[in-house]
Parts: sequence; structure tokens; C-alpha cells
Amino acid sequence: MNPIRELAARLRQARQVLVLTGAGISAESGIATFRDAQSGLWSRFRPEDLATPEAFRRDPALVWRWYAWRREQVAQAQPNAAHRALVDIAQRVPTTLVTQNVDDLHQRAGSPDVIALHGSIARTICSVTKLNIDADWLAAHPGEPPRSPHHADGLARPGVVWFGENLPPDALDRAEAAARACDVVLAIGTSALVYPAAGLPGTAQRNGAWFAEINPQATPLTPTADLAVAQAAGTAMPAVLAAWEEYA
Ligand code: OAD
Repeated sequence: MNPIRELAARLRQARQVLVLTGAGISAESGIATFRDAQSGLWSRFRPEDLATPEAFRRDPALVWRWYAWRREQVAQAQPNAAHRALVDIAQRVPTTLVTQNVDDLHQRAGSPDVIALHGSIARTICSVTKLNIDADWLAAHPGEPPRSPHHADGLARPGVVWFGENLPPDALDRAEAAARACDVVLAIGTSALVYPAAGLPGTAQRNGAWFAEINPQATPLTPTADLAVAQAAGTAMPAVLAAWEEYA
């Protein structure tokens, strides 16, 4: 069977679906991925200079400005056909959507209850207490970055998870429970190199789920997948929906 049709058929028959997305699903919205050889952020910048607590301690202004630049990119981007297709699929079959992306494009496309494992670039938090800092306060307190309103030693920082930091425990618990409960797991646009997110399809498989991957490149999980669709998400996902209609 053609892989798109097979995926559509599996999703139609599923009782509970887990979707795990990574930067690749937003690539067609014009947002740079991290590890793509030419265009990936990590081919141009060193993560240890920008996306670690140590980097922020060393040079908070540099890190703050880098995230401000990315926030600007994200604000100008629009959800694409793959984000929209996931909204549609969730209306047809119970779906838990777990993303490593901090761009909020799933939420802007209309996906409810997105589990954002790595936080959101639109949020700002206190570097000490991790409490939320609201946008109105930030607008009134320019600075690169301003001091935190929540703690004398704190600075405002992006509400994202950095290398070496723990994921929000509640989000991770919910994602792992969804992995154990699903019967179909679909990974889209992730290099599957960063754990614990990359472990979710394996957890689902050990609990009996069928696993499909959509990614133009092979990943460490490709050999373990029951189906690998080597296409861009913005092509594959609308095609899955079209094939779904054919079966209906
Ligand atoms: P990566 O940049 O590591 O991987 C992006 C993946 O998307 C690659 O496997 C590409 O082949 C694939 N890809 C590119 N274009 C695509 C398209 N149009 N359709 C489908 N797939 C496409 O991004 P992530 O796997 O999300 O963490 O990276 C995981 C984490 O590492 C990120 O959340 C971030 C990063 O460092 C933190 O910041 C904590």
C-alpha cells in the first residue's frame, strides 16, 4: 500500500493517537530548524553559547537578544498546512499533541491542549523562581534583560527549556501517559536526538502502538518505525487527510 494511504488507514482505525512534533513541522512556515546542515540554527550558532543556563549567566544580554530575534521570526510566521491538518485529525480521532517546538504555531493553528515540552518563546519567566512574567510588566520594563519582578537576584529570561534543564514535570508526565495509552504514534519533523522527547515513540511501541514517522531525512528512530514517510510535513499531512476522505 502507498505509505500515505497506509498512514491514513491506521489513523482512521486508531482509538487514541499521539503526535510528536519537532522543528521540521514549522520549517515550511519559514522558521529555521536546529540541526539541518545548511539552514539549521546549530549550524550557525553554538548551542552552548545561547541555549544553556551557563550561557545566560555568562552573557544574559547576548542570549536575550538572540531569543528576541527568534521571537520576531516566529511572530511573523504563520501555521502551515501540516499544523492545520493536525487540527483536523484531532477532530476525527482522539489525539494528544506533544511538541518540542517553542513557536506556538500548533496553538495558533487551533490545536487545543498542546503539550509544549520545551516551553514557549512567547513566555518570559524569572531566572530564579521560574514564575511567569507578564507581557504588560515587560513592556513597561525594557532592558536586556530587565531584572525579575519576582526575586532580587533574578533576571527575566525566555520561558523555554535549555540544554541541561529539566522539562516541566507536569508536561512530561502527561506526554508519557499519552505514549503509554495510544495505539498509533506519529513523529513529524524531529531529528529524534533530544531526550526525553525522542523516547516517546519507543514508550508507545513497547505498549503496543504502531509507529509512523514523517521526515524527509532518516533519523535514529527510522529503523524502528513501522512506516517511514520520507516527505515534507506540508506535503504529507494534507495528503493523509485527502486519503482519509477516500476511505470515508
Ligand atoms: P532538529 O532541527 O533537530 O530536527 C528537525 C528535523 O526536521 C530534521 O530531522 C529534518 O530532517 C526535519 N525536517 C526538515 N524540514 C522538514 C519538513 N518540511 N517536514 C518534515 N520534517 C522536516 O529539530 P528538533 O528535532 O525539533 O530543544 O530538535 C529537538 C530539540 O533540539 C529542540 O526542541 C531544541 C533543539 O535544541 C531545545 O531548545 C531544548
